Amino acid sequence: MNTHEVFEAWQLELKNLASQGRLRSFRTPVERSGPWVGWEGKTLLNLSSNDYLGLASDPELNLELARLLYEKAQAQSLPLFGSTASRLMAGAHLVQEELEAVLESLYPGKKVLLYNSGWHVNTGIIPVIVGPPDVIFADRFVHASLVDGWKLSGATLHRYRHNDMGHLEELLKQYRPKHSRSLILTESVFSMDGDEADLSALVDLKRRFDSFLYLDEAHAFGVLGKEGGGLAQQEGWDREVDFLVGTFGKAMGSMGAFVACAEIARNTLIQKSRPLIFSTALPPSVTQSVLFYFGQNEELAERRERLKKLWKQFHQRARAEGILVRGSTWIIPVVLGTPDRAVQLAQECLNAGIWGLPIRPPTVPEGSSRLRLSLRSDIEPAFLEPLWSVLAKEFS
Ligand SMILES: Cc1ncc(COP(=O)(O)O)c(C=O)c1O
Repeated sequence: MNTHEVFEAWQLELKNLASQGRLRSFRTPVERSGPWVGWEGKTLLNLSSNDYLGLASDPELNLELARLLYEKAQAQSLPLFGSTASRLMAGAHLVQEELEAVLESLYPGKKVLLYNSGWHVNTGIIPVIVGPPDVIFADRFVHASLVDGWKLSGATLHRYRHNDMGHLEELLKQYRPKHSRSLILTESVFSMDGDEADLSALVDLKRRFDSFLYLDEAHAFGVLGKEGGGLAQQEGWDREVDFLVGTFGKAMGSMGAFVACAEIARNTLIQKSRPLIFSTALPPSVTQSVLFYFGQNEELAERRERLKKLWKQFHQRARAEGILVRGSTWIIPVVLGTPDRAVQLAQECLNAGIWGLPIRPPTVPEGSSRLRLSLRSDIEPAFLEPLWSVLAKEFS
């Protein structure tokens, strides 16, 4: 195929995606403040972000953080906006160690290692833990970055039905003995389904079948648990999780990620984990922003409580009104089936002042296109009334 033919093939693919209602495109708000976005002359309630605690779009906190960075620049605490290299070269900064120390205080007995993003963690760690002679057992709904981590590892993959511990046990019985090392992969709060993994069953299975347990807490970190340490911390299982991953791009309002694991695992990752070794570290200003948010202890605790109250009320009312939403948390999937139906309901939401974008395959399985709505702590229940009207009409 020559280069011209490749462009022609892409043109056809794009046309097909558009005709199936599956073409992805950017929608860029022109203004943001708290839970509101300005787009095409309208002010809309943002139910599509992962800014669950409203940190990233809080005007006061943004100002305070900017002041702190200004003071650091004035004090010549440089560089702020570029780390200058990978952390193994000249990109190591004290602020990284400070943040790791704060995170280690959340997970007694574990050491923490920072990464540039959740994507870097998942694609950078899984291939260190397992390789071609080994086996991975993954929940069928795990995030694309975990799937890509498996691909890079070369290990054999078996996927168990979503949150089906009986199925996982069957697969472990059948396939675990055929392989050298074994790794169980799951999210804690599932990004597209808003439900929670059964950690006590997972810990039991990982012990019985001598496997590592890898828990991606991208969506739970910051929201659940004492000091926001996630679902495993909340339920007291964090010591049993071998690789506990959290990200800062969601509830923590910034960017970056970490793994909490045994010291020997951390030391091994520093030798072998390619995204850590071969990519420029995050700018110190970004890492500083996460530390800054962590410093707002009381404010964060209040926001967690507000969010919890909001999502409990939401599910209660949905049940009472016969509105079928999945999950049990602040991530609320409204599963509609075809991409067209999801796009149509998203449009009705937009008309009603709600920014709730459709999620279609391949992000979610065929036949389960949906709106994925996420609640946030800065929403007043009254802001949701237009959404209730749209949903009531859809489910009437
Ligand atoms: C479960 C899960 N893990 C990892 C990631 C990637 O994290 P990041 O956005 O920090 O790359 C995401 C992002 O959406 C996610 O949902």
